[in-house]
Parts: sequence; C-alpha cells; structure tokens
Amino acid sequence: MTQDRVVIFDTTLRDGEQSPGATMTHDEKLEIAEMLDDMGVDIIEAGFPIASEGDFAAVSEIAQRSKNSRICGLARANFADIDRCWEAVKHAEQNRIHTFIGTSPLHRAIPNLTMDEMADKIHETVTHARNLCDNVQWSPMDATRTEWDYLCRVIEIAIKAGASTINIPDTVGYTAPMESADLIKKLIETVPGADEVIFATHCHNDLGMATANSLAAVAGGARQIECTINGLGERAGNTALEEVVMALKVRNDIMPWTTGIDTKKLMNISRRVATVSGFPVQFNKAIVGKNAFAHESGIHQDGMLKNKETFEIMRPEDVGLAGTSLPLGKHSGRAALRDKLEQLGFEVGDNQLKDIFVRFKELADRKKEVFDDDIVALVRVGDGED
Ligand code: KIV
Ligand code: ZN
Repeated sequence: MTQDRVVIFDTTLRDGEQSPGATMTHDEKLEIAEMLDDMGVDIIEAGFPIASEGDFAAVSEIAQRSKNSRICGLARANFADIDRCWEAVKHAEQNRIHTFIGTSPLHRAIPNLTMDEMADKIHETVTHARNLCDNVQWSPMDATRTEWDYLCRVIEIAIKAGASTINIPDTVGYTAPMESADLIKKLIETVPGADEVIFATHCHNDLGMATANSLAAVAGGARQIECTINGLGERAGNTALEEVVMALKVRNDIMPWTTGIDTKKLMNISRRVATVSGFPVQFNKAIVGKNAFAHESGIHQDGMLKNKETFEIMRPEDVGLAGTSLPLGKHSGRAALRDKLEQLGFEVGDNQLKDIFVRFKELADRKKEVFDDDIVALVRVGDGED
C-alpha cells in the first residue's frame, strides 16, 4: 500500500453497535458486513467476540464469508479475550486481533495497576496475540488524555511485542484538529520503531470534531481512519465514514490521500444502517442526510438550474443519489416552479406562470413543503377544472 493510501477501518458492527439501542440481529450484521466488504472497506471490525455468544457467532460467520476485507475482532488485555477473538477471526483469509487497554490516569485507576504493571500487561498480551495472529492492532484507550512519556513508552512496548498497527483513540472526543495532527506527528518522530507500523486514528464526536480530528491525524501521518457508517457509536458517535471518505475525494487538492471506497454505494449503506440500527439519519447530516443535496430557496434553486456548481461541491450521483432535489416551499422562486411544471408535463406562458406562482406562494405559506400533487391541483384550479 502506498504512502498516500489511507486504510478505512469500519467499526459500525463493534463501536457503532455499542450505541445504546443500536443492537442489530445476526442476519443484519451479516448483511451490513457484506455491504462494507463490497464497498471497498479495507478492515471490518466485526464485533467483540467475548462479549456474548451472539457476537462470537456473528464475527465467526462474517470471517468465513468475507471476500475482500480483513476481519478484525476486539479483545481486552487478557488471554481469555484474545483467545476468544482469535477463535472467531481465524476463519477469515485476512484477519486481525485488536487488543486494547485504557492508559490514561483515569483508566489506569480502574484495574488499579501501576504504570509498570500495566506496561508488563501490554507486553504479555500483545505478545500472546501476535503468537496467534500475524496481524495485531493495539490501542491505548483514552490516548489523548494519557501522559506523553507514558504513551510513548507503552507504544514502544506494543511495537516491540509485535503490533503492526498502533491505534490512537480519542475515546471521549476531547482532542482538537491541531492537537490531533501534532500528536500523531510527534509520536511517529519519537517512538522507536514507529516508522515500521501504521498509525491509526479513532475519534469520537463529543465536541463535533471527529471528522476534522481524523483528517488532521492523517495530515500528521496516520494512515488508518477508524469510522462508522452515519457516525453511529457511543454517545455522540464516531467519525462518520462517509464524511472522511468524501472529504478526501472532494478536497484531494489539499488532502492528497486516497481510499479504496466506492463512494456510489454510500447512500445505500447509510439507509440500510439507519434502518437496522433504528437510528435515523438527521436531515441535515453531511453527505447522506435527506437535505444534503436539496435546495429550497429561490436564489439557490435559480443558481442550481443554471449551473449545479453554484451550490454543490460534489455530485449527488457520486454518493449514490439519482440527482439534486429542488423541493418547493415558501422560499422557492419562479424558476424552480417553472422547472417543476415542465417536469410534470405542463407548458405554461408567462402570464399563467404568474397566476400559478401567486397561488403557489399562498399555499406554501400554509404548508412546509409543496408536493407534485399540490402543483397539479394549482394548475387545474387556474384552468377552472375545480
Ligand atoms: O474509543 C475507544 O477508545 C475504543 C477502543 C476500544 C479502541 O473504541
Ligand atoms: Zn471508540
């Protein structure tokens, strides 16, 4: 893989499913995994095999069925978790064990380990994972609130023990873009052996900065982005896959990194994940929201009818939509109304358009959106049919 290629690691089925209420059935997970694989996701984190029999079964079956993607499972820093994870992912042609431990002071206090005891645990568990699987990812959970010296120390231990990907989680969405870029850059410059592994970024969206932080981390040298469809995930969610992928595509002039994602499949998988998780996509969500390619105001609609680039920086077709939509509402102007009338098969002269436009505005003041049937009715009222 070249230096300008960013690995897309999707964790919809693991971190995404950890959203309270987003649980998916076994068959739904298989379906989403198949869609992710087909869309060009490099690595699918399919679940947390020790969490339940159901998770184990889903990860095992996804591993057996995967065609192109590497299948990864999550494991805490203990042998039982790691063994269970391996039992599930070993069926995949390309597999990965992802093991983690919370390294910040707050997280170290929970198992009540000293810094030295935790360092030993990291060495033991990563070595154990590496003896089972030749592709191991290690994460210092809450990395962005971990002391700098200790973070460097434990990353070096994990690399020496055989981890080939070091993930830097911003577990509580605490970092900011400048800091995110700087952290990865400094880690790569400082930690011995860092140039031989891939650094990953895993951001949460508590302050709404997950996408920006992920892209900044790539600018700092990370070459794997961890993300989920629709940004599904704990609390305010994870980095949204569709956002980082489209940002890299649309602004490749200033962010010269590519992914292997077939972006035309984004809308379809977004809708499917929304349905199976029961988490609807907000209307104004970037890339996949209902309004992401919709324009209501007169000035915008007029501009769009003349040249789509006036108000769109990407083509709706590139994310799998049929096209732009110009919903009619009280902010719409004559140009959009005429366009709609033509689409509906009405050819009207300027005077007739003027009359219909007056009636349209009266109606639009009463209704949030004016639909095709309303327009047909407005024309007929004018023709004296009603
Ligand atoms: O947010 C987080 O720290 C995680 C880890 C398990 C990687 O999801
Ligand atoms: Zn997470």
